[in-house]
This record gives sequence, C-alpha cells and structure tokens, in this order.
Amino acid sequence: MQKDLHEENRLSWNVATDAHNSHKGDQASFFRTGGNKLYLEEKELLGDITGLSVLHLLCNSGQDTLSLAQMGAIVTGVDISDTAIAFARKLSADSGVPATFYRMDVYDWFEEAAKEVQQFDIVFCSYGAIHWLSSLDAWARGVATVLKPGGRLIMVDYHPVMAMFDEHLNRKFSYFRKEKAVTEEEGVLDYVAARGKGLTDTDYVEGIKDFKNPYRAHRFPWGIGEIIMALLEAGLLLRLLKEYPYTNGYKPFLQMESSDHSWFLSDDQPNMPLMYAIVASQPL
Ligand SMILES: C[S@@+](CC[C@H](N)C(=O)[O-])C[C@H]1O[C@@H](n2cnc3c(N)ncnc32)[C@H](O)[C@@H]1O
Repeated sequence: MQKDLHEENRLSWNVATDAHNSHKGDQASFFRTGGNKLYLEEKELLGDITGLSVLHLLCNSGQDTLSLAQMGAIVTGVDISDTAIAFARKLSADSGVPATFYRMDVYDWFEEAAKEVQQFDIVFCSYGAIHWLSSLDAWARGVATVLKPGGRLIMVDYHPVMAMFDEHLNRKFSYFRKEKAVTEEEGVLDYVAARGKGLTDTDYVEGIKDFKNPYRAHRFPWGIGEIIMALLEAGLLLRLLKEYPYTNGYKPFLQMESSDHSWFLSDDQPNMPLMYAIVASQPL
C-alpha cells in the first residue's frame, strides 16, 4: 500500500473536484426531481435494489451514490477527497435524497468497517475507480469483509487495454508494467470542462477557467487478470466478466463516434475492449 501517494491524490482530487462541480448547474434540483446519473449497463447489473444496503466505493461527489438511493437502496459512499465528500453531503441535504458519506482512504475505512462489523448487500464501484488503488489484494480482502453472505460486488470501469494508447490511438504504454505507479505531473485534470456539455446532466456552467492542478496524481493501471485473481483469492466467486466495445461518458480517443452517451471507435479502427464489468459474490 502506498499511502503517501494516496495522500497526494487526495490533494489533487480536492482541487479537481471543485473545478468539476463548478461546471455543473443545479444538481440538487436534478436529484430532487428524481434524476439518476447511472447508465443502463450498471442499472442492468444491479437489478432491483429496493431496500438493499449498497456501499459505493470511491464515490467522489456522490452523484452516483444518490442515483443508487433513487433506485430505493440505502446507500453509503466512501471517498478520500475532502471537497468531494463535503459536496456529497450538501447535495444529499439540498436534494433530500438520503445517504451516509465517509471521508477516508478506502483502506482505512475497510479497517473501521471490519471493527464495527458493517456489512452490505452490494458493493458498487465504477468509472475511473480501480486505478487509484495501490493494493488490489487489500482492496479485494476489504470488499470481501464488508459483503454479507451472498452479497455482490458490482464493478464497471474503463478497460486497461484502452489505457495502452494515447488520444491519437498510438500505442504508448505497456499492458504489463514493472513499475505499478504511474505519476502524472499535471494531476487530475478538469475533464468536465474539456468535455463541455457531454458529462453533465444539468446545465453546463463556465465555472472555473483555465484550471491547473498544483498537485500530482498517481495511478495504478491494474490488468483484468490481476483484478479477477485478487477477488478470487479474497474468497469471492466470479459471476460475470463482460467487455464492451464502447465507453460511457468519456471520449478517450480523438477518432470516435458517439451514440447517445457512448463513444465507439470508428469502423476503420481495430476493435478493442473499452470498458468491462465484473460481478463477484460472497459465498452463502
Ligand atoms: C474518477 S472518481 C470516481 C467517480 C465515481 N465513479 C463516481 O461515482 O462519481 C475517482 C475517485 O476516487 C477517489 N479516490 C482516489 N483514491 C482513493 C482512496 N485511496 N480511497 C478513497 N477514495 C479514493 C478520488 O477522490 C475520486 O473522487
């Protein structure tokens, strides 16, 4: 575990989260009027979650956490960023959509939850989450500890194969890396501004301009095999592994075509997996 790098990520996410939210219009009214940010892919994997306890890991400002609550779940979100959790708590209060949020490094939170024997029906984790974690084994053990018998982990994330290429589709990084941490000097970017209206369900607001992050960011680009093996070694049962030829809400390459909220490679490009989903369950 590389807590020093997590700490720098916290600082980087704090300022980036402020920039991201500065571009989103009235989010409280979006949720107050029944808005839901989840994509069809995760909604289908979740199924009917009415009355179930759902833990949302690396929940950022809580928009997806509140969306899970809109589906009838009792929700808890965990994130390391101070500004993200402060925003999430305010959004929950202002929208009237109930949720409990913890500001903690997820590994510290797992330890606390184990002491208090907090357990959940579903652990949910999505879009740009797993690559912030410096130890997959400790993460998988933590997930297994907080899942009730028969409970499910549901993950949807961007595919690590996609991360081998730059925006021009030139192969830039190895899939298998000797050094796990990848340091980005420019820190977490203002990708909400970069994508304009595409990433917000509320009115796009100009907000913070010319954002520069003073803090570096450190990512850990795990491969699919490493993720699956960590979950199996933690005692979970693999129920589903699915790959998708498109991304939701994110345009990683310049040459892509959009359909609704998804981005596809154009027909003249070789096909590759761009997202994946995993469902794993705790034995009964
Ligand atoms: C791309 S965002 C995830 C967004 C998420 N899919 C959502 O529902 O909005 C990644 C989040 O991971 C959080 N994070 C990074 N490292 C963490 C750690 N060690 N423990 C808890 N949260 C962490 C960041 O603060 C950030 O909010």
